Amino acid sequence: MNVHVSALAKNGTRDPKDSVFARDVIDGLARQPKQLPPKYFYDETGSELFEQITVLPEYYPTRTELGILSDRGADIAAIIPKGAALVEFGAGATTKVRLLLDRCAFDAYVPVDISGAFLNGQADALRKDFPHLAVHPVVADFTTPFALPGAVKAMPKVGFFPGSTLGNFEPHEASAFLRSARAILGDGATMIVGVDLEKDERLLHDAYNDAAGITGRFNKNVLVRINRELGGDFDLSGFAHRAIYNRERHRIEMHLVSLKAQTVRIFGQDMSFRAGETIHTESSYKYSVERFQALARGAGWTPRASWTDDNGMFSVHAVVASD
Ligand code: AVI
Repeated sequence: MNVHVSALAKNGTRDPKDSVFARDVIDGLARQPKQLPPKYFYDETGSELFEQITVLPEYYPTRTELGILSDRGADIAAIIPKGAALVEFGAGATTKVRLLLDRCAFDAYVPVDISGAFLNGQADALRKDFPHLAVHPVVADFTTPFALPGAVKAMPKVGFFPGSTLGNFEPHEASAFLRSARAILGDGATMIVGVDLEKDERLLHDAYNDAAGITGRFNKNVLVRINRELGGDFDLSGFAHRAIYNRERHRIEMHLVSLKAQTVRIFGQDMSFRAGETIHTESSYKYSVERFQALARGAGWTPRASWTDDNGMFSVHAVVASD
């Protein structure tokens, strides 16, 4: 590997200020308005906090999607070809994929995730519980092109992208992701996608402003991470969690609001904040069934079926690769 000398600290390890994380933080905080990419929430603590969010009474998406996958398991199984390979983009808790593996006749499972250690742990557990299933983990950033393992090349492919992770992409990124998934999975593929729906603003507001304050801790965790990994000196009590629904853009926006005029040092560089200035840390886009279907069509997929819960809170879509 060709590592540039300036990326190495005196003791031979990589200098954190040359990392992609450091560059993204410096660039994001230099912008107006300030922003940080949501992918940096998910270190070990952030991933644990997110698991806590998924079971909060106010956070309906996870349990509602699980309900749809469970209630509509037979409908989903009916459109899955026999002997197919299930390719999951991003591999979190295995609860959702287990519902599909229980009901559908998959021969292979390909979880794709940037974290190899996590992926292999999940893969081992699934191999034990589904002895007939060939599990081929792929360590890759699923938002960029990657090759499928040779062993599944000849099998029909089914993509799986649950959790409304699509909603954390900007619309042009969501379209690019769906197009890239179409290219990776190939002609004849099917894709199952979970998408959060637009709804009463009060319900959305509560889902991202839970009474126990877990979402606030999740949001602030990115500052904790900057302090620890990039030598920042953010005073956490100087920032507040704010989540608001932006109706025009159909998205929840999470921000960290500076509660006073203050200066933060990162790598010896001063970053000033005005009182009330915010860092935009995440967007969570909400779709109607029709708007998601239009997005999928534009990215080379033909909608085959869409399922929602009785209250119209969440949707699961099956789309097939267009000719
Ligand atoms: C992972 N993602 C779909 C979650 C969401 O709802 O946008 C992340 C999250 N942010 C705050 N609460 C949950």
